[in-house]
Amino acid sequence: MTDLTIPSTPTRFEPPADLAASANVTAEAYARAESDADGFWAEQAERLTWAEPFTQVLDWSDAPRARWFVDGKLNAAYNCVDRHVEAGRGDKVAFHFVGEPGDTRDITYAELKDDVSRAANALTSLGVGSGDLVAIYLPMIPEAIVAMLACARIGATHTVVFGGFSAEALASRIEDCRAKLVITSDGGYRRGAPSPLKPAVDAALSRLGGQSPVDHVLVVRRTGEYVPFDDATDLWWHDVVGSASPEHTPEAFDAEHPLYVMYSSGTTGKPKGILHTTGGYLTGAAYTHHAVFDLKPDTDVYWCTADIGWVTGHSYIVYGPLANGVTQVLYEGTPDSPHRGRWWEIIERYGVTLFYTAPTAIRTFMKWGREIPDTYDLSSLRLLGSVGEPINPEAYLWYRSVIGGDRCPVVDTWWQTETGQMMISPLPGVTAGKPGSAMRPLPGIGADVVDEEGRSVPNGSRGYLVLTKPWPAMLRTLWQDDERFVETYWTRFADLGYYFAGDGAKKDEDGDIWILGRVDDVMNVSGHRLSTSEIESALVSHPRVAEAAVVGAADETTGQAVVAYVILRSGDGNNGEALTQELRSHVAKEIGAIAKPRQITIVPELPKTRSGKIMRRLLRDVAEGRDVGDTTTLSDPSVMALIANRDTESAGA
Ligand code: WT7
Repeated sequence: MTDLTIPSTPTRFEPPADLAASANVTAEAYARAESDADGFWAEQAERLTWAEPFTQVLDWSDAPRARWFVDGKLNAAYNCVDRHVEAGRGDKVAFHFVGEPGDTRDITYAELKDDVSRAANALTSLGVGSGDLVAIYLPMIPEAIVAMLACARIGATHTVVFGGFSAEALASRIEDCRAKLVITSDGGYRRGAPSPLKPAVDAALSRLGGQSPVDHVLVVRRTGEYVPFDDATDLWWHDVVGSASPEHTPEAFDAEHPLYVMYSSGTTGKPKGILHTTGGYLTGAAYTHHAVFDLKPDTDVYWCTADIGWVTGHSYIVYGPLANGVTQVLYEGTPDSPHRGRWWEIIERYGVTLFYTAPTAIRTFMKWGREIPDTYDLSSLRLLGSVGEPINPEAYLWYRSVIGGDRCPVVDTWWQTETGQMMISPLPGVTAGKPGSAMRPLPGIGADVVDEEGRSVPNGSRGYLVLTKPWPAMLRTLWQDDERFVETYWTRFADLGYYFAGDGAKKDEDGDIWILGRVDDVMNVSGHRLSTSEIESALVSHPRVAEAAVVGAADETTGQAVVAYVILRSGDGNNGEALTQELRSHVAKEIGAIAKPRQITIVPELPKTRSGKIMRRLLRDVAEGRDVGDTTTLSDPSVMALIANRDTESAGA
């Protein structure tokens, strides 16, 4: 079980002296941002190239709806690509791409500019323009990044759907945002074999039928496997983009122009379309990437292992790093294909200096054993980052020592899809690292741990994590659901104007912040956000299921795992293993393989309060093997004994 107990005297690692001496950001930044927030963020916005200057840093008069860098105009793709070429760095490698089968491709900034320009011309020729939505459903291949930047270049808003999501999940997102174009591929490589993607797009569109907003599907050839092709809608990327001109003049868009919508699970069955805009988002992503990784763009080689289907890939593969003009590694596959040393081999080969990954991956490597990384030369590394879930001290210490050779600082970065940028993290040249703590809000960021009434808790206490001031990359609203935006994040502490993050946290005796995990019905499985009610809806959509309750139970590798309790329809006999397997596959089909329950227990009843609310706390106790605590508020206290019984049966099965 992941141990999140906070040690009474945490270990501390001071910043390495040489890093501190040449750090991009020093302690002075906190005070500077504190005394003049507008001045501080205006300075950070100057990292970007503006076509028209902004006249005001922040307009918060319609809070919680923010406008950052008012009247400013810029082009995100120009900032990520063209300006580096114009500055004479066109020959610099933007991406060392490594495909899973072992194919590699180095793409320079000049080549990236040509590719993005061709794709921008191609999208325009397909009738896509400013204000249109484009869904991107691709593996981790360079075309995914080209597609995102091509949208940004012409003012189209992209929504990237993680390639592991099912046809159903893709359909609901296409429908919700009314995407006009889908960009996909025949497939990608997964664990040594081609894995198809295009058929899921076909299934999604046929599910939408006459309601489908999609005019065209643009298909990248990656695997070369056969895919059904509809000549009326489908187009090959290599035909349309390949034949387009590499000359394209970017147009400047308003700082508040919608850059992308990223769907993320909330506490209801319907995912939220989180909207990020252009100027503030790019400023927040670029500044934090520079500050937290202490980025030295001339010498660093940076690798973030996230998928572009998640916000980490958006902010810390595409927008932040490219705005900063760094050289990166882009890897298509899984860490164990073709062998368990693949990541370390890549670090050795490209001399990666900055490495950003998730605790779940670190725990997997710990299980595989240090002998594997120990056979590679990892001495190029100088800094390690962690994101997505709390990093337990044991994993932190292993990461720091086995991967980082006890010389690299570890930055544990807390943020969310909604925040768009890192919010709480050590600064590697300033802050001592404490294994398990994300430490302090970054310069310019306001974060606190508060009680039910919004009062700041004293050091040594727990409470709710809140953000106390607006920040440039903050979400602007939820796509077509502004009411839910206000309700979800800004109502809980409305009087104080705080953003409610949905996480529990603790301030230790020094006032440093330890994130304890979600306080709502959102789970975090392998650093990916899943909603209990979304999985419950998937389960009850199966004809044999009457009712379902889902909880996130602590898991040694994935942080949390999905555990489901299901009541069958009356008269429906339980045929054991076959049925639970069928239900697991059903969830994978409805949402995606990541949502598949680790365990499903068929139960006669669920624990409910007298008002009918499912008591997930009790189910979590059972799932994590604890004695069930207080059951006095249950309408029928005897149900817990029945459930605990079934659970031991199914765990032993
Ligand atoms: C939730 C946000 C940030 C991009 C990837 C996940 C958890 C994230 C940390 C961390 C403890 C963390 C929180 C947060 N989380 N980073 N360093 N320490 N918890 O984005 O899907 O929007 O999930 O992930 O619970 O609320 P997301």
